[in-house]
Amino acid sequence: MFIVFEGIDGTGKSTQVKLLAEAFRAKGREVIVSKEPTDGPHGTRLRESAVSGRLSEQEELDLFHLDRRDHVENLIKPALARGAVVILDRYYFSTMAYQGIRGFDPAEIRRINEKFAPPPDLVFLLEVDLDTALSRIGVRDGQANAFEQRDALQKCHDVFASLQDEFVRRIDAGKTPPEVHEEILQHFDL
Ligand code: TYD
Repeated sequence: MFIVFEGIDGTGKSTQVKLLAEAFRAKGREVIVSKEPTDGPHGTRLRESAVSGRLSEQEELDLFHLDRRDHVENLIKPALARGAVVILDRYYFSTMAYQGIRGFDPAEIRRINEKFAPPPDLVFLLEVDLDTALSRIGVRDGQANAFEQRDALQKCHDVFASLQDEFVRRIDAGKTPPEVHEEILQHFDL
């Protein structure tokens, strides 16, 4: 089973990833938890660029794709092949949103990714209003980084909101973390 969490910064994805992983492990399932950008060489460069100065649009898009190719080949596909539950904090829907707002066509980004990246079984789209997201980012980082400006987040939210796939589950992430976790658990037979 391949599960992805998406949403703008400050929606609490990483907390929910951890809670869901624990729930599967408690039932004896092997769970692989990961995130994008990864801690590999391309992902590390991307994270550094958020602080040290943003790359060109094209360079950034290429790096997210290189990072994802490595992730798919080295971690995601092998884990799924042996029957593990794979839970990701962000995947190609984030590229559609965040690079989409830098001038690329989200539909085209999606086509590129679906040539090499397997589609998930479920996408939990965590939704909060912008002020909640911004205040959470502020509490977490002290200062919003270049990725995390209000206007950009609004536009990313709009791209996520436009996803129409049957595997998307919209979750009200304005509630407390345990409440959000309970809502997510309703989608499984655990
Ligand atoms: P984030 O999940 O916020 O990581 P952390 O909290 O550990 O810093 O991800 C970092 C940023 O990367 C986030 O603002 C969204 C951005 N991003 C893209 O622009 N494109 C992508 O394809 C992905 C996966 C992330």
